[in-house]
Amino acid sequence: MSKILLIGASSAIAQALQENSNKDFIALSRSAGNLDLEGDLSELDDLGPISGMVYFPGTINLKPFAMLKEEDYLADFNVNVLGAVKVLKKVINNLKEAEGASVVFVSSVAANLGLPYHASISASKSALEGLAKSLASEYASAKVCFNVVAPSLTNTPMAGNLLKTDRQVEANEERNPMKQIGKPEQIANSINFLLDAHNNWMTGQIIPVDGGMGNLK
Ligand SMILES: NC(=O)c1ccc[n+]([C@@H]2O[C@H](COP(=O)([O-])OP(=O)(O)OC[C@H]3O[C@@H](n4cnc5c(N)ncnc54)[C@H](OP(=O)(O)O)[C@@H]3O)[C@@H](O)[C@H]2O)c1
Repeated sequence: MSKILLIGASSAIAQALQENSNKDFIALSRSAGNLDLEGDLSELDDLGPISGMVYFPGTINLKPFAMLKEEDYLADFNVNVLGAVKVLKKVINNLKEAEGASVVFVSSVAANLGLPYHASISASKSALEGLAKSLASEYASAKVCFNVVAPSLTNTPMAGNLLKTDRQVEANEERNPMKQIGKPEQIANSINFLLDAHNNWMTGQIIPVDGGMGNLK
């Protein structure tokens, strides 16, 4: 079985995936020093066939619209979207070689549900979802599936500032239909499902993993 490339393998959700799956991963991250999305990405040369790729890097930059600068939008777009494009340009042929590969992006409930202060991240994650659907169509005949998992607030370092106090935790639980903040393993389990070869007739889908937040009152 060929390997699955994890970009942003240091993320809490990626860590949960590695802990709870017996798949064979190639783990790259900025903090491990083997991933530089601004660099030449030569670490992606000569990988051979890979049966999947998950792109985890993301940002959180919640501000009122009036305070968001053009640079904020560009920074969010670079990490959330352009990084995925750069990686895929390097590895798309490796994915095709596997003859049945699965690519998973991590979006956010904020792409589907209008939330205040999310203008920049919503724009970026919506772009990421559009990218996934377009590539799913373009590479369907090459048997490369593209799907997206869209979490709501999940207990990871990224969400740390929103979950600092008991009051913040309670308010965020209350906002969710299931009265819960997500756990990294709940998101990771959905990604693991999409990476399974026997699920490779699913493509072009945006899958909310959000306690119903995006669709339910
Ligand atoms: N947590 C939530 O509430 C939530 C909700 C919706 C969507 N998401 C999405 O879930 C994904 C994973 O995040 P997480 O919640 O697991 O948070 P996390 O543990 O804080 O992970 C964030 C990841 O992004 C990487 N990253 C950020 N900027 C980068 C850059 N310029 N170059 C390379 N890597 C970069 C970090 O890399 P290093 O650690 O190596 O620096 C880290 O691996 C993100 O795409 C996020 O948007 C999270």
